[in-house]
Amino acid sequence: MTESLAKFNAAHAALDYVKDGMVLGLGTGSTAAHFVRQLGERVRQGLRVKGVPTSEATRNLAEQVGVPLLEISQVSAIDVCIDGADEVDPAFRLIKGGGGALLREKIVAAASKQMVVIADETKWVETLGAFPLPVEVTRFGFALTQARVVEALRATGCAGHEVELRVSGKSNEPVITDGGNYILDAHAKRIVNAEALAAALQGIAGVVEHGLFIGLAQTVILGKDKGAEVKRL
Ligand code: 5RP
Repeated sequence: MTESLAKFNAAHAALDYVKDGMVLGLGTGSTAAHFVRQLGERVRQGLRVKGVPTSEATRNLAEQVGVPLLEISQVSAIDVCIDGADEVDPAFRLIKGGGGALLREKIVAAASKQMVVIADETKWVETLGAFPLPVEVTRFGFALTQARVVEALRATGCAGHEVELRVSGKSNEPVITDGGNYILDAHAKRIVNAEALAAALQGIAGVVEHGLFIGLAQTVILGKDKGAEVKRL
């Protein structure tokens, strides 16, 4: 499988969910970027939609390709949110946040009538957790929060318990999210009870948001070298 082609094909298939006049949630990451670029082409051909971006990177790209934007404060509901994922399981539970945009992504997905996930087929897994789970935390007291995230992994039966502060490969400095927070990457390895882990993380002071998206996606489009497979719950 050629990853980039598969991502392009997933993004292309998601255009079927876009109708004239819609407000769209625009995801973050390389697959979502394929979608935004293809949406820009449709806008240039006359499609009238407005997008709510989930990150500053997506905002910049959407502006470059001519997709009109709205602030989240200007909308009461979003018709469809189209976003990538780091892992998807058969119950359409997701790990998101590899690109660090999980907070805005979750706010936009939760405000959407429908969430369509676009991903290359390697993102489909039987059990979540091989991809490190991103957890956005306040900078204040992050080491204490990190210790409590380790406890949450242990308490909910995860196979791995290591949690590391995400640092930039270039500067070796902590990555700062669009919201001004840090990201902890939780190496759970195997998440046996995603709902319990989500609840445990939500209960930790200092956790702003976590990358488990549960009960949000109804459609998953898995891109392949040729075309894409559409799965629905
Ligand atoms: C960003 C995300 C992305 O959707 C996820 O990391 C997938 O990225 P890509 O499409 O580049 O594989 O959650 O926060």
